[in-house]
Amino acid sequence: MRRALVAGNWKMNGRTDFINELMNELVSGIQASAVDVLVCPPAIYLSQVKSMSGSFIAVGAQNVSENPDGAFTGEISLPMLRDLGCEYVILGHSERRSLYAETDLVVADKFIATVAAGLKPILCVGETLEEREQGKTLDVVGRQLKAVIDAAGIDKFADAVIAYEPVWAIGTGKTATSEQAQDVHAAIRAMIAEYDAKTALATRILYGGSVNARNAAELFANDDVDGGLVGGASLKANDFIAICHAADA
Ligand code: PGA
Repeated sequence: MRRALVAGNWKMNGRTDFINELMNELVSGIQASAVDVLVCPPAIYLSQVKSMSGSFIAVGAQNVSENPDGAFTGEISLPMLRDLGCEYVILGHSERRSLYAETDLVVADKFIATVAAGLKPILCVGETLEEREQGKTLDVVGRQLKAVIDAAGIDKFADAVIAYEPVWAIGTGKTATSEQAQDVHAAIRAMIAEYDAKTALATRILYGGSVNARNAAELFANDDVDGGLVGGASLKANDFIAICHAADA
């Protein structure tokens, strides 16, 4: 049985006061939870968030360097994330791929380094609107996923999480339908099963792209949707708490 995960991707948002308020509300709203709850603040606020996160909210990063500590100006290393108590790292988010030219190979290197450091990767995959309209959704998602499996080895996926995030649904208010999400999630699970059936059954596959308090329950009700990666709605305490409860149902 897969335990659901709801992860908040705050992206490049927040200030000290806003984060204090948001974390206070989340910590009092998420007491014992039957789902895993994660927040991923901007790296500069990881310490602040970790110090407030309590026992039921895990903390993760939105990106990390594939390189070890050293002469990489402006980068953040895995030992630093571990030092701050981070458990997860989002990798290959579509904004990293499109705005910062992260290739499948770079994402694979980051994945390998993340697992080696003992953190859990959340590997994001997803197609653009044009690719969907051309019927290439599964080609694109398959290419992104297999690039990492082939480089890392399927045995490195024991603690990995996959996030299916159609690019056209991110930040647009346009969510994939429940059926569209389930179809791609099932296909992703089948692709993993080509490597190892046990890993396919155990791997959590999150849906991301305009998840909100109203649509979460329907999305999460699908057999192969094991929670969500939530952007905009994770900055509103009540909405994020409602989404966590939707995954708990
Ligand atoms: P969104 O972002 O929920 O604002 O669409 C999701 C994401 O990019 O992870």
